[in-house]
Amino acid sequence: MQGKIALGSDHGGFELKEAIRKNFEEKKVAYEDYGCFNLESVDYPDIAFRVGESVAEKKHPLGILICGTGIGMSIAANKVTGIRAALVADCYSAKMAREHNDSNILVLGGRVLGQGLALDIVDTFLKAEFTGGRHSGRLKKISDRERC
Ligand code: RB5
Repeated sequence: MQGKIALGSDHGGFELKEAIRKNFEEKKVAYEDYGCFNLESVDYPDIAFRVGESVAEKKHPLGILICGTGIGMSIAANKVTGIRAALVADCYSAKMAREHNDSNILVLGGRVLGQGLALDIVDTFLKAEFTGGRHSGRLKKISDRERC
């Protein structure tokens, strides 16, 4: 994987973001942390847009966003043109999100997932690749709609 993974959370996802960040440090995965940086309350759209725009501008190949449920982050990130954010809670969906949907942002619920499962989901998402083919035409229908 070329480039740094963009990481972001609100306070509800902060602890899981820290666990992912530490795991990246141990495994020498390059990342850039867009906050938040403590448990103080912040608004998830601010972080979602920051990470979403940086991924859409190709500053990062992929991003990871975490809030309490993952729902707010996924709704907000998907408002950024070019972002295909996938809220995922299992490894099969993490793989499919990359292989079929070419998802460029993985979204997790920090208050939903255990840390072990969340780290496995991250690992699966980062290792999987878009398979193209018939899926490309489906994604084009989505990007065409964004341009309307
Ligand atoms: C914050 O309390 C919580 O609403 C947020 O983390 C997220 O779950 C929103 O979807």
